[in-house]
Amino acid sequence: MTSAHPDGPVAFTFEGRTLSARPGQSIASAILQSGTPVLTRSFKYRRPRGYTCGYDICGNCPVTVDGLPGVTSCTTPVRGGEVVRRERGWPSADRDLLRATDLMARFVPAGFQFRLFRSRPRLAHLAEKVMGRVAGAGRFPTPQAARAVRTRTEVDVADVLVAGGGVSGCAAALGAAGSGASVTLVHPGRLGGRGSARDSIVTYGRETAPAAEVAGRLASAVLAHDGIRVVDGFVMSYFETGVIPVVADGLVLECRPKHLVVATGSYDVPGLFPGNDKPGVVLADGVGKLLRVDRVVPWRRAVVMTDGDRGRALADQLEQAGVEVVAIVVQQGAGASPEPGAGPADRQLDDERVLLGTVRAARGARVLRAVDVEVDGRVRTIRADLLCVALAPRPANDLALQRQYVAAGTTQAVGGGWAGADLSSSTPGLSVVGSAAGWTSDDPDRAHAVGAAAGSAQEK
Ligand code: FES
Repeated sequence: MTSAHPDGPVAFTFEGRTLSARPGQSIASAILQSGTPVLTRSFKYRRPRGYTCGYDICGNCPVTVDGLPGVTSCTTPVRGGEVVRRERGWPSADRDLLRATDLMARFVPAGFQFRLFRSRPRLAHLAEKVMGRVAGAGRFPTPQAARAVRTRTEVDVADVLVAGGGVSGCAAALGAAGSGASVTLVHPGRLGGRGSARDSIVTYGRETAPAAEVAGRLASAVLAHDGIRVVDGFVMSYFETGVIPVVADGLVLECRPKHLVVATGSYDVPGLFPGNDKPGVVLADGVGKLLRVDRVVPWRRAVVMTDGDRGRALADQLEQAGVEVVAIVVQQGAGASPEPGAGPADRQLDDERVLLGTVRAARGARVLRAVDVEVDGRVRTIRADLLCVALAPRPANDLALQRQYVAAGTTQAVGGGWAGADLSSSTPGLSVVGSAAGWTSDDPDRAHAVGAAAGSAQEK
C-alpha cells in the first residue's frame, strides 16, 4: 500500500484510529489507503460495498462526518480534524451480522413485501418501515446534524446555466461569459471533472497538452472570471415550467436560464457478472481518479476487463503505479473486430497479458479475491484484488433528454436513437457539449464556441 505524495499530511479520526491524508485527498481514498476496503453495506441485503465510481454516481461510499450522515466520501476532501465513521453494519461494516439477510435472499427477494402482503397493504408498509429502521437510513444521529442540512432557497437569474464543470463545461462557460452573458456553472466538487483523471491528450488552441493540465487551466480561468458564478452542487432535473432546481450545500437554487448547456460528461458502464458489486471491482474512471488525483494505490494484483483500447491504457497506468496486471480480458463479442488487424482486440494480441474471453464472476467472501475468466470454453480463476472495469462509457445525457422531452411534449419523440449533438442544435435554448454529446475526445475549443454562441444569442 503506497501513497505517491505523502508530503504535508493532515490527520482525521476514522472509527477511533488516526489516519493521515494529503490536503485535498478524498476521504474514501484515505480510508482505502489505511487498508479498509469496505466503506458501507447495502440497504437490504447488507452486502459489502466499496469504492466503485469515484464520482458520486454509484452511492457505494456514504460515511458520517462529524455527525452528518450520507457524506459522499469519494468526492469529499479531507479537511483535517474531522471524525469519520462508516454507516450500516452491526456490530461494524466489516463484520455485519445482518449479512444473514443476503444468505436468505431467495426467501426475501426484491419487493417481497408487496407480494407477500398483497391483500394486506398495512403489513407491507410495516415491513418497509422495519427494513428502513434496520438500514439506518433517513435518521439524523443528533439534532445538530439535522439543523446542519436545513436549506434556504434562492432564485438564480443568469442568462446561461452550464451543468458540469469538466473540460467542456468550463470551456463553454468561458465562451458564454466572454460574449457578455451572465453564467452560472454547477459542478459537484473540484472543477476539472474526469478529464483531470484521464491520461488522454486534449487540444487547446494550437497547443496540445495533457488533460490534467488543460483541465486545471480552464478551471482557474473560470474561478477568476467575474461573470461566472460557480456553484458546488448538482442539477436535479429540468421541469416543464422551465425551472431547473440546483441543489448545493444548504441551498436550493431555482434557475430559469435562457440557455442550458449540458456538459455532464459520461458514465462508466458496469460489467454484468455475479459479484460485480464486490469491493475491489472498480470502474475505469474511479481507478484513474485514485491514481492521478488522490495518488493512492491500494491494490497489488489487477485484472482489467475491457472492450477496447481503454483497458490497455489503464493497465499501463496501473503497472507504472506498481500494480501487477495479471490479465487484460478483452470481452468476446464486444471488443473483437470482424476485420482482422482493425479492431482493438487484434491490436492487443501482441500483449501477453491479453485474454480474449469473458469475465464470468468476481469471487471473494467479503472483498474481491479472484476473477473467473472464460477463455475458449474453459473457466480460469485468476487471483486479484482489483478488477478494473473499463468498458465504453455512456453519455450522461439525462438532463438533455429531459429538456428534449419538454420541448417535444412527449418522451416518444426522442426515445431510442437520440443523437445528442444533432438534437441539441435543433432545440432552442439547449446545447450539449463534451462526452455528454457523444464526443469521443475532449475538445475545449469546440465547447468554447458552443458556449460563445449560446452567450451571444442572449444579446439579440
Ligand atoms: S459514489 Fe463514491 S464511489 Fe461511487
